[in-house]
Amino acid sequence: MNKKIVVFGSYVTDLTVFAPQLPVPGQTILGKYFKSGPGGKGSNQAVAIHRTGTNVTFVTKLGKDALGDMARVFYENEKMSLEGVLCDDVYETGAALIIVDEQSAQNEIVVALGACGHFTEQDVEFAKKIISDADILLVQLETNLEATEAVVRYAKERGVLTILNPAPAKALKRDFLENIDILTPNETEASSLTGIYVDQADDESIRRAARELLSAGVGKVIITLGERGVYASDGNEELFYEPIKTGEVVDTTGAGDAFNGGFAAGIAQGLEFFQAIKYATVVSSLAVTRVGTAPAMPHKSEIIKYL
Ligand code: RIB
Repeated sequence: MNKKIVVFGSYVTDLTVFAPQLPVPGQTILGKYFKSGPGGKGSNQAVAIHRTGTNVTFVTKLGKDALGDMARVFYENEKMSLEGVLCDDVYETGAALIIVDEQSAQNEIVVALGACGHFTEQDVEFAKKIISDADILLVQLETNLEATEAVVRYAKERGVLTILNPAPAKALKRDFLENIDILTPNETEASSLTGIYVDQADDESIRRAARELLSAGVGKVIITLGERGVYASDGNEELFYEPIKTGEVVDTTGAGDAFNGGFAAGIAQGLEFFQAIKYATVVSSLAVTRVGTAPAMPHKSEIIKYL
């Protein structure tokens, strides 16, 4: 039986325009087409986990509006539990404005968190009940930080494995980092957390940032490096992984979420740290071959083919 994962984090509606290039400040360009759909780092990661066939409960907050209703319908269609879905009376469901460059498949994103930026103390108590019988807690930074700090503190006290994907980057206190078993920044987030410029082409900059994060109190570090793949260190051993090619890359939005969801799922399925990273690499390599975020997450049957 798989272990139980709780994801605490954001649901927002993704409003995506695919364009021939990313605009520069002050420029208006014509996009090719528009797509809206379910997004938010927390939700994308929870969907990625669910589609691997792993037990996950997602704790999030929606508004009382049409976008919130769309989210509920999406989870019902996915056959995901709605047990952890809260509803805010005041704040609306969050939204993300995304531009995807069709040439490079890179993106630019601005997120307005809406309800997910307003978890109350009561919501945190609700989340703690769900976490109380979990094995793994996966969080990101698309929430009001004090709520995430509180659920992580609780999980750590109960011996639940804590994974933080520190996205989008924010300054974090040492006593929060000390409660993190596994930290998974991308290179930009690693730079912003450590003050060390992490350059994909410079192995030593990657290693230095990882050492800095380990000495700040986190248990293990995984730095995702885009096209370069992934670097991981458990404090003793370290490894660089190349990404695998599963098809043409069309949209990298949500690649980090696919990786984090895949990694947590791998751990829940009993894989050890470095094996779970390989598993996660397959999940993210498949996700970038499709358009969108949550809808692009691969199913177990597809993942197995590439393992
Ligand atoms: O990581 C990708 C996600 O970031 C998008 O789905 C968007 O909603 C933003 O939160």
